[in-house]
Amino acid sequence: MNVLLTNIKQLLQVRDSRVTNLKGAAMKELPTLENAWLLIENGVIHNYGDMVATPTGSFDKTIDCSGKIVLPSWCDSHTHIVFAGNREQEFVDRINGLSYQEIAEKGGGILNSARKLQETGEDDLYMQSAKRLEEVMKLGTGAIEIKSGYGLTKEAEMKMLRVAKRLDKAYPVTVKTTFLGAHAVPEKFKDKKEDYIQLICDEMLPAVSAEGLADYVDVFCEDGYFSVEDTDKILTAANKYGLVPKIHVNQFNSIGGVSVGVKHKALTVDHLEIVSDDDIRELQHSETMPVALPACSFFLGIPYTPGRALIDAGLPLAIATDYNPGSSPTGNMNFVVAAACIKMNLTPEEAINAATVNAAYAMGLSKTHGSITKGKKANLIITKEIPSYGFLPYSFGSNCIDSVICNGELL
Ligand code: NIG
Ligand code: FE
Repeated sequence: MNVLLTNIKQLLQVRDSRVTNLKGAAMKELPTLENAWLLIENGVIHNYGDMVATPTGSFDKTIDCSGKIVLPSWCDSHTHIVFAGNREQEFVDRINGLSYQEIAEKGGGILNSARKLQETGEDDLYMQSAKRLEEVMKLGTGAIEIKSGYGLTKEAEMKMLRVAKRLDKAYPVTVKTTFLGAHAVPEKFKDKKEDYIQLICDEMLPAVSAEGLADYVDVFCEDGYFSVEDTDKILTAANKYGLVPKIHVNQFNSIGGVSVGVKHKALTVDHLEIVSDDDIRELQHSETMPVALPACSFFLGIPYTPGRALIDAGLPLAIATDYNPGSSPTGNMNFVVAAACIKMNLTPEEAINAATVNAAYAMGLSKTHGSITKGKKANLIITKEIPSYGFLPYSFGSNCIDSVICNGELL
């Protein structure tokens, strides 16, 4: 099966295969080919070039992209899309004056989602999650990381991860899974957090690993959730099973989460709404990718990750949706790209790099995703007719996507 895209007004993010992530000033560049063609063969990018030398021959399908921009699909490196029901009531409670933390302290928040999820059967959970996945695929997401963390028992955590694995099999989108047993301390362990951590280390991690359910491990390292010491312990245990950390840090407080992440060679440290100079120094001496989640800041009304300052300090940056029922009930990467520009002062080039090349790195997919490179997966966004790529974040409330190709398939 081969598909030829012709008359592409701008082909974005054309890179050499050696480019795996972009730091500091390099994030300002977005290599672009004007008036281009691109050939897909058997689900991968076979070749591309200038329209003055269009390939000849017969093709199963030709798509005329006149006036349209083509770019690699978004990689969403941080989501919790496998969840049950919603938390619309907490949203209204916050409008009426309660804070996110106050709601959590009253047994709402993550524990509310855990109760709902524990009562939901695996097939029902799959159907609810598949609907969300289908929506975000149409919005241009071609690879997605999915966390557990609303189970909080061995059975329910495994149920979540099995659902994520089923989604991976059923859809052309690439899925990476992350075990987040340490998302909150369950009600049952309220005054026995140590026992819950023991359960994670001694029972959940071995079971998750034995079934091959997770690529990564995550911990919510935050006051009121898991301390730096707890995080250290869980990451040490996970290391024995080959699970690389991708952790929640610095959402409300800078308590040392970045440091413990760097110590354990975390692939990413995510959230970072609060960042200290020490955190920046730690990251400068690491291969760990900082990940900002601006839709969460928007929804909760908390500070935005200082993305501009991180890039100006020479760091790389990725952006993701954090799609979840409590702090970011959207999986729209187009909105995240726009919010990164509007609220974090990233240029369109930086935001697109953060959502493609760097986002692929943030989920261990640099070899196959994130850029227009020969041999990478044909995961592409074809925009509507728009003046230039800066129009994508500029027209933040509009859907600029005409069509999406995932794994070579036109959705
Ligand atoms: O990334 N901060 C921790 N976890 C999620 C939110 C969880 C929830 O409120 O359900 C997040 O924002
Ligand atoms: Fe999250």
